[in-house]
Amino acid sequence: MWPYPKIVAHRGGGALAPENTIAALRCGLAYGFRAVEFDVMLSQDGIGVVIHDPEFGRTVAGAGQVAQTLASELVRMDAGAWFGPAFAGERVPLFAEVAEYCRAQRIWMNIEIKPAPGHEAATGRVVAAATRALFHAELHNGDMAAVPLLSSFSDVALAAARDAAPDLPRGYLLDTVPDDWQAQARALGAIAIHTNHRHLTAPLAAAIKAAGFGLFCYTINDPARARELLAWGVDGFCTDRIDLIPPDF
Ligand code: G3P
Ligand code: MG
Repeated sequence: MWPYPKIVAHRGGGALAPENTIAALRCGLAYGFRAVEFDVMLSQDGIGVVIHDPEFGRTVAGAGQVAQTLASELVRMDAGAWFGPAFAGERVPLFAEVAEYCRAQRIWMNIEIKPAPGHEAATGRVVAAATRALFHAELHNGDMAAVPLLSSFSDVALAAARDAAPDLPRGYLLDTVPDDWQAQARALGAIAIHTNHRHLTAPLAAAIKAAGFGLFCYTINDPARARELLAWGVDGFCTDRIDLIPPDF
């Protein structure tokens, strides 16, 4: 149920580089990471960009919203200076740039569909269609370990992704796993449950695995906690501490 890497660099390079940038991917690679999670949102003109927050002010300076800004403007914005002067000039990347970089470097992707409010279906559809086009050969050859795993907190986005690219795997992303998780996951055609490790219990982990789903957790930065979760049967997790939890952990 989990042909993917066990340890995944959160937002590209974890806490060691500005999140969701090409510099983050380079940093992850320098630490040996060939598995990455990142967040994709749509610009005003419906183009996927890699960024976490729908509003400016944290990783990019100023006021404004991703969903009300053209991609051509977003890609000129500095997404590195907030992290440190060494990263000034690092831009907001297009999803296509990140996906092509990862494919070329053989970095496996967990692509989190992160819609701005009100743009759930379009974001799921666009991200799924673009991913499917890029990984056409791998899908055709059945090389599923190389194909990205889409995930989202939005069931609307996941349903749209399912309809646009039924053959791409999907993970159902949940902060707290609800009682009816299995019915919801099956309705979305999800192959995995992605959840906040803080709310996971050993019996719930066992139930998810017994039901035949992959189990992925976010975001684990303590090696002892990582060992505990893996002992519970967790298949994989993302981390900000790529310096403490290496890919071969
Ligand atoms: O996909 C796992 C994790 O990234 C979800 O939370 O807010 O870091 O995107 P967030
Ligand atoms: Mg994320």
